[in-house]
Amino acid sequence: MIYAQILAGGKGTRMGNTAMPKQFLPLGSKPILIQTIEKFVLEKRFNAIIVVCPSDWLTHTKDLISKFIKDSRVVVITGGSERNDTLMNGITYIEKTFGLHDDDVVVTHDAVRPFITQRIIDDNINAVMTHTAVDTVVPAIDTIVRGENEQVNEIPIREYMYQGQTPQCFNIKKLKKAFNQLTTEQKEILSDSCKICLLAGEEVHIVRGEVSNIKITTPYDLKIARAIVEKRVVI
Ligand code: CTP
Repeated sequence: MIYAQILAGGKGTRMGNTAMPKQFLPLGSKPILIQTIEKFVLEKRFNAIIVVCPSDWLTHTKDLISKFIKDSRVVVITGGSERNDTLMNGITYIEKTFGLHDDDVVVTHDAVRPFITQRIIDDNINAVMTHTAVDTVVPAIDTIVRGENEQVNEIPIREYMYQGQTPQCFNIKKLKKAFNQLTTEQKEILSDSCKICLLAGEEVHIVRGEVSNIKITTPYDLKIARAIVEKRVVI
């Protein structure tokens, strides 16, 4: 089975003081979350599309989906306090509802990346059929500088540097095994889901993203996103 999981369980603190978490803010005529889900329902290979939201926004999320999305594959469940907790809540839901099979895969995506293309979704599904884990990346444009305490300690060769986007895709059984091997400390500091697999010694395959597949994180990103949907910026 091929599952999609839309990660919408965050609070959006870097967006500043908004009335609701950023994934529910309007972008054009619809909330950001809905714009994202709409890209996933176009892909017929998904058996289920699991939207994972904050527990206190469950009713709101369900209402939005019944208003805008007419697709019985879409279900809403609640997430966890960290992004990887949200991811694993989705995996637990899949296991309890459908059971787990060796070749089951999940395509996970940030709810706040509404400009994902069908090409990126398609490439991710194809890649996860033959790889344990898949990451979507774009080449780094700026030089990446590593530093600590106001001191530069490394400037890696830019040719080997990428910026991580989503989707990130996984063979579900192997992801679950890798996650269960992590220490509590590792679970606390892990902000990236593909790293779960890297730490377990699994290879992570690369799929090409798009510069336009932006993550709406700050008020500036929201301005850019609104300019894109209003066609003031062409992507
Ligand atoms: N996310 C999630 N569950 C969490 C935290 C984040 O599903 N516990 C989701 C967010 O909803 C978002 C995606 O992960 O769609 C990317 O994370 P990020 O942009 O960091 O979102 P937030 O955690 O909401 O933002 P911030 O870090 O500014 O609070």
